[in-house]
Amino acid sequence: MAGLFGKKSTPVLGIDISSIAIKLVELSRAGRTYKVESYAVEPLPVNSVVDKRIEDVEAVGQGIERAVKKSGTKLKTCAVAVSGSSVITRTIPMSAELSDSEMADQLLIEADQYIPYDLEEVRYDFSVIGPTEGNLDQVDVLLAASQKDNVDKRVESCEQAGLTAKVVDIEAYAVEHSFELLRHQLPDQGIDKVVAVVDVGTTTIAITVLHDGNVIYTRDQTFGGKQLTEEIMRRYGISYEEAEQKKCQGGLPDNYYTEILDPFRENVVQELNRLLQFFFASSSFNAIDNIVMAGGTSAISGIDKAVEQNAGAQTIMARPTANLKVANRIRAERLHGNAESLLVSFGLALRSFD
Ligand SMILES: Nc1ncnc2c1ncn2[C@@H]1O[C@H](COP(=O)(O)OP(=O)(O)OP(=O)(O)O)[C@@H](O)[C@H]1O
Ligand SMILES: [Mg+2]
Repeated sequence: MAGLFGKKSTPVLGIDISSIAIKLVELSRAGRTYKVESYAVEPLPVNSVVDKRIEDVEAVGQGIERAVKKSGTKLKTCAVAVSGSSVITRTIPMSAELSDSEMADQLLIEADQYIPYDLEEVRYDFSVIGPTEGNLDQVDVLLAASQKDNVDKRVESCEQAGLTAKVVDIEAYAVEHSFELLRHQLPDQGIDKVVAVVDVGTTTIAITVLHDGNVIYTRDQTFGGKQLTEEIMRRYGISYEEAEQKKCQGGLPDNYYTEILDPFRENVVQELNRLLQFFFASSSFNAIDNIVMAGGTSAISGIDKAVEQNAGAQTIMARPTANLKVANRIRAERLHGNAESLLVSFGLALRSFD
């Protein structure tokens, strides 16, 4: 399991710094499951995060501070994630006989072959995924790198809010961690299965393919709910805020469904289709067993059915909170209602128990 850019085994808040919000989750162990101790979603000012990059550290820091206050958490440590085009991952076969420090030494020498940036400009880390298929003498090592600036601005934003970022993960690995909370939804608990977790957010659609619960592929594309909101805005001549509100809560004319929503749903299906084709082209797999839909935009009615028909794989909505206990002070219906958009936060919060 990839533990990137950080130390483990400290209780951490999971903080997803998304393009429009801070999403915070704190978990504790509760018998054989977990309990959600704190939870908050706090909107961010427009353009404080652009293309997954923090443009305004102060605004993001203040957003985190508000989320912490609202949630009532006492924790001062957190886990955050980087993603998008600034993150590079490569799977590299290496001799199975090398120790961790020998691997680190060899990667230091070879990293520039795999990372198309000046090594001075990146932070990178590696972890062993498992034996290389068809070669017992080798193991697949996952090398992950992110531009320094991208990592450092996240850490600084947390510091501004009085938090220490103990872990800087990669979103795909946060999704991998969260899979523990999704297994109950899948046939055979997802064991041995190839499962695509598809996160359709505000600006990004991301696919993370897991085999037996381990990440084997990840890719994202600029596409998301923002496009739909902008379309509504243009068509009905209303503000972005009003379009966003009517999109999520209703109140748009009848022609919205046929002329805007149906084509958008079809776009989601096509974007996902492309991502699946990229996966098939780059791996030895040519089929997916299950698709799990996550992200706020997946809440659009009928998306799961449309995806299922197109991809020919059983498709479900992510319900990561279904089996969790919830602290009394949290409004449980709200938490469960937003659960599909909290996968990254949950995956990060689970780093507390590595
Ligand atoms: N019921 C709904 N119907 C349609 N769209 C919805 C609904 N609920 C939320 N959304 C949309 O989901 C998006 C937010 O989803 P999410 O919280 O997963 O995104 P994000 O993580 O902030 O974005 P990104 O991952 O792209 O940075 C917004 O575009 C919002 O309008
Ligand atoms: Mg997101």
